[in-house]
Amino acid sequence: MDGNTAAPAAAPAARTPWKAGDFSHVPYWIYRDQDIYAREQARIFAGPNWNYVALESEVPNPGDFKRSFVGDKPVIVTRGADGAINVLANRCAHRGVQLCQEHLGNAKEFVCPYHQWTYDLQGKLIGIPFRRGHKGNGGMPGDFDLGANGLPKLEVAVRHGVIFASFDRAVPSFEDFLGAKMLGYFDRVFDGRPLKVLGYSRQRIPSNWKLMMENIKDPYHASLLHVFLVTFGLFRMDQKSAVQMDDTGRHAVLVNRKGEQAANEATQEMRAFKADMKLADPTLLQPQREFPGDATVVMQTLWPNLIVQQQSNTLAMRQMVPRGPEAHDLLWTFFGYADDPPEMTERRLRQANLMGPAGFVSMDDSEVMMISQQGLDPYPDATAVIEMGGRDTVDADHTITEVALRAFYAHYRQVMEI
Ligand SMILES: [Fe+2]
Repeated sequence: MDGNTAAPAAAPAARTPWKAGDFSHVPYWIYRDQDIYAREQARIFAGPNWNYVALESEVPNPGDFKRSFVGDKPVIVTRGADGAINVLANRCAHRGVQLCQEHLGNAKEFVCPYHQWTYDLQGKLIGIPFRRGHKGNGGMPGDFDLGANGLPKLEVAVRHGVIFASFDRAVPSFEDFLGAKMLGYFDRVFDGRPLKVLGYSRQRIPSNWKLMMENIKDPYHASLLHVFLVTFGLFRMDQKSAVQMDDTGRHAVLVNRKGEQAANEATQEMRAFKADMKLADPTLLQPQREFPGDATVVMQTLWPNLIVQQQSNTLAMRQMVPRGPEAHDLLWTFFGYADDPPEMTERRLRQANLMGPAGFVSMDDSEVMMISQQGLDPYPDATAVIEMGGRDTVDADHTITEVALRAFYAHYRQVMEI
């Protein structure tokens, strides 16, 4: 046999059909199939949606830039000489090289390391070495148009210091995309005050990106998985709480109000509750009220790639970057406000120990997502059961529910047409 002859392609795995209108069961093949992943990149991340890319305070001056991602596509966020924000595809028009390798910086132009094609801060191609050749030899064709070979530019929306981008020219306004209810929660944290970045962490989680979305839309697990949240009353299902969605079901918030570390009837069902556990340093918690209303936790998931975290006084953007069907990066940006007194900054940083790759709370989630993927991956034709709290997709005033997951999948199926 000729060594170049490819083996016949394996027949596609038999798939459990996903019953029309059923949002309380999810087949496991959607977490692992390559064709689903490719369709998500095209329809969701490159579709008519606003993807979070950066905070304005990360690029305060002309020439400032930040590397970011829209879905799995690398982009560069720049502030041009005119002060406006640009979001550009991070790939040279010549041969596709990822131009910008630095996380943050300031530049007058971007020069491709491979053949030194050069672009300005708006992505315009401004220079090609040996464009006219040398002593009559070579060079680009005379009709080569610099203007037609810039870096693709994305649509940009900026609201109260937060930058979003879209590959789709037909994307609705950011305000319409969020809807009034979700915009209200967004403006609760982003009220127009200038923001100040306090730090970053990054992690690769070996699970499909949707498991991360589900995790933050799932208050049911918070009282069961997280020793820290339950024991110290930071998020518990016996406390005042709510789960709300926008009209489409794609965005959601989980709201909770901190209670005390006291045993009661409900804590008997929470194995993670430890009545006798004490913190050696109680200043780790001690939230200080700073937002209107009595909620101490508001976790907002914004379709398709952002989690806005307000847990006590730790504020963070968690940006999701899919890395194939079976992994995603979670990019954390911890922030406060530019006018925070030093004590508040210190409080935010102390409480940030709950979050991130090694956070007292978040590490439980990363681990459980990894073992979820390990469990479901070999069983593509089995289905998840998402029936806690009913089979509907309407707002709830308690957290013993998976309603926000059902709402997410109602929208997901519509967009994906599966
Ligand atoms: Fe969690």
